[in-house]
Parts: sequence; structure tokens; C-alpha cells
Amino acid sequence: MRFGICTLDEFDVAGKTVLCRVDMNQPVDREQGTLKSTARIEACVPTIRELSDKGAKVVLMAHQGSDIEYKNYYCTQPHARVLETLLDRPVQWIDDVCGPAARQTIRELKDGEILLLDNVRYVAEEQTLFEMKLRLTHEQQAKTLLVEKLAPLADLYVCDAFAAAHRDQPSLCGFEQVLPSAMGRLFETEYCVISELMEAPEKPCVFVLGGSKISDAFMMMETVLGSGVADTVLTGGLVGNILLAAKGEAIGKGSLDFIYKSNYGEYIEKAKAIYAAYAGRIMLPTDLAYVEDGVRRECMIGDVPEAICALDIGSRTAKQYETEIRNARTVFVNGPMGVFEKAETELGTKTVFEALAATNGYTVVGGGDSVTAAAKYKVKDKLGYVCTGGGALIRFLTGEELPVVKALRFAAKQFGHKGE
Ligand code: 3PG
Repeated sequence: MRFGICTLDEFDVAGKTVLCRVDMNQPVDREQGTLKSTARIEACVPTIRELSDKGAKVVLMAHQGSDIEYKNYYCTQPHARVLETLLDRPVQWIDDVCGPAARQTIRELKDGEILLLDNVRYVAEEQTLFEMKLRLTHEQQAKTLLVEKLAPLADLYVCDAFAAAHRDQPSLCGFEQVLPSAMGRLFETEYCVISELMEAPEKPCVFVLGGSKISDAFMMMETVLGSGVADTVLTGGLVGNILLAAKGEAIGKGSLDFIYKSNYGEYIEKAKAIYAAYAGRIMLPTDLAYVEDGVRRECMIGDVPEAICALDIGSRTAKQYETEIRNARTVFVNGPMGVFEKAETELGTKTVFEALAATNGYTVVGGGDSVTAAAKYKVKDKLGYVCTGGGALIRFLTGEELPVVKALRFAAKQFGHKGE
């Protein structure tokens, strides 16, 4: 038991059916529909291997979204194939989540076998938007289709999805109401390391927020600035573009079209309010980069060509951010500064990650894209901590009890150790 939560050490799982929620949500190439990284799948391996080695029938639940918020869900079949290679043992996969086919396959599992169900967010009640628009209590989550159909087949629920610990959804918080529950090894490591290390970040503390998970980024920005955890927030990617638009700066028609086509228009208004409240502590890009005829071009804010779509921060901004990072005592990074997968638009992200490797301050990198970038620029070993969670990490820093932590603590009290 750690932090009031049961661990795997407290349960004998041999011959038991274990429902294990993992976070294998990877950055996806939207055009090809392929996974751009396998980092989070790799991180899930120790718990899955341990459960299988100990003779559990392992039923995995996972989600896969797109990098643009909560759209374009992908099936989890590619994850099963990656997992099979990493574990070097068969991993069954089924194109069902909790219907008759999935339930029958679970009943037929033998000790040590592993089954990955299809994307849990194919079940409507699991949708993140549902969480945002209509919050279900944990008791109500226990009455959702997913929990009612799968829980009776299981002896134990294990949550290893630290990266999704800030989500209040049935696959994450519903099973703890009705089953003995434990955190998995990855969850245990991440939660314990973050709890111990990050109680009081040394100042100055800088947050670098980018990427395209806009609702998360703005929530983080407000909370870390409001709580005083962050002294300064450096912005880039779509987050930076939206803030620039909110400030009334021209960012190019292509950039604006992308914001509106992705349904982010409403965030321009939200960004106005945040910027008005914290202008002195939010740094915006002073120049931007775009691609013309396959070549990187840069422009200063105030002199942005009318039609462009900004895909990276400019080199001047990158330099300014590098200085901020090098002078900070603590730096948190969540989200890239631009489309770092392409050579023409990687400069901003590359500069930030190289600065992280060079600074003397303590550095924490979180989230799927950031973990991928740290690997791409070969700086993982030089960072203080690389966390699979982005949103979860930052939500934790706000001091709020994470919904999954609350649910796991409830299960520990309700069902006790070893499910007794
Ligand atoms: C993440 O990528 O932050 C986690 O996998 C949670 O995914 P979500 O933001 O789509 O809920």
C-alpha cells in the first residue's frame, strides 16, 4: 500500500482475471493512420509482463485519440502487434470493447494469456467530451455499460494509466467502485516520483506549453499561473498561435483557417481572458516559421504574410526561450513548439529540447508528443524526469486529487488489501 492505494504486491493474481487499464495513447500520423512512437506502449510492458508471468488472465483496456484533441479515434490493433513484439509472447486483440464477442473471449482466456480490447472510447459513455459536458460521479460510472458488462467477469482491476489519471471516465474511475483495485507498476513509479519530487518546485519555475491539445493547455496555463506554481509560461505550437490571435496579431489566413476548422475558435476568446489576466508572465512567439515551396521561411510578428499557415516558432523566439530555460531552476515541458516531425519545422522544438538538456535546472517533460521529441533529440538521459503523462502531471501539480487516485483510494478502503 502506498499513498493509500493498493499495489500489485498485495494481490495474488494467479488464475485470476485482471482488467488492466493502460495508457498506450500515442501520437498518430493523421494521414497514414500509423503510430509515430511506441514510447507509451513500452512503458506499459512491466505491469503486463508481471501479471502474465504470475498467471493472471490479462484483459487490457486502452484508448487511442488523435493529436487534435478528442477526434479521429483509432483502433488498438497496431498496439497489440507492438506489444506482442515487446513482450515476445502472443497478445490477442478483438474488435469489440464490452459486447458479447469481447465477453466470450475473456471467458475463454487461459492463465497467463493477454487480450487487448478495442479502443474503450468507442463506447459513448467513455468519451472525454462526455466528461466535460456531463460529469458522472464515480458511483454513476459504475453503472455504465462498460463497467456493468466487464466487471462481473473480473476478479481485480488494475490501473496503470497514469497518463490518463486526470480523466474522470468509467474505464478509469468506475471499476474501483465494484472491484478490488490496485495501481500498476508504471502508475506507482510515476505517482510516487512526482509526489516526492514536485512538492515545491524550485524557482524560477518555467512552463513550456505547446502542441495542439488546446483545452488541456489552457486549463494548465490558468492553473499553474493562478496557483503561482509557474513564474513564466512560454508558448508555441497551436497554443501560441491562438494566444497571438487573441492578442489581435495577424498570424496568417492558413493559421486561422486551421484554428476554425479544428473547432478551436472558441479558445480565442478564452485566450483573451487568460492573456489579460497574466500578460506579464506569458511569453508569446515574436516570430513564426512557415513552409513555402518546401523551404522554411520566417517572419516577424507584425509582418506576417497574409496567406501563411504558421507551423513553428521562429528562430528569434527559439533563442529567447532557450535563454529562459537555461536561467530557470525548474522547467516543465508539455507539447512541441511546432510540427517537429518535419525537418523544415522542427527548429523550435529541437532548440527547446536541447536547452533542456543543457540547463542546470531540474527538468520534467510530460505527454506523448514531448516524450517522442525527447527521444528524437536524444536528450532523455539528460532530463530530470520523463513522465508518460502530460495533462495528468500538470493537473497533479495544481494540488487537486487526481480522479483515478481518488477512485483507487476508495477501492483500498472499500475492499481492503487482497480484496478481503
Ligand atoms: C494523454 O495523451 O494525455 C493521455 O493519453 C490522455 O489522453 P486524452 O488527453 O485524449 O484524454
